[in-house]
Amino acid sequence: MPNATETCACAQETDEQKYERIAEIIEGYGAQKTNLIQILHMAQGIFGYLSLELQQFIADKLRLPLSEVYGVVTFYSYFSTTPRGKYTIGVCLGTACYVRGGKKIIDRLKEILNIGPGETTPDQKFSLEVMRCIGACGLAPAITVNGKVHKQVNADKLKTLIANL
Ligand code: FES
Repeated sequence: MPNATETCACAQETDEQKYERIAEIIEGYGAQKTNLIQILHMAQGIFGYLSLELQQFIADKLRLPLSEVYGVVTFYSYFSTTPRGKYTIGVCLGTACYVRGGKKIIDRLKEILNIGPGETTPDQKFSLEVMRCIGACGLAPAITVNGKVHKQVNADKLKTLIANL
């Protein structure tokens, strides 16, 4: 058991060490195209996002063209090619949420955070994204903060919610 007073060394991990870890992961899964999505998930978990350089590294290991890896990364909304903020706020724009004010929520968040969907604040604290239905239609409009669902969100109360993060 690690000592509770020990500090985590993750923050000190160099990019080189992170690449080594990803190489090990690729070896563990098997350097095959069928494992690409799992490998991308792990790589995003390690780096926080999938830079073009990282995509090239994975493409080389799997002997795939970069365009193929890039195509997968940009197809799935949960992959990010830019660093994300500490808090990712996802606003549902599925039909129920849209009808009940989802667009107003986006507009209010744009005002408060001064960023648009797909962007991150300069202090790297918040990222904003738009989502499809997250299964809370009965209590729309809904948003997520780092995956946690907040239901019946009121645009006027967003400032408080953000201030408390
Ligand atoms: S439409 Fe937003 S939760 Fe379903």
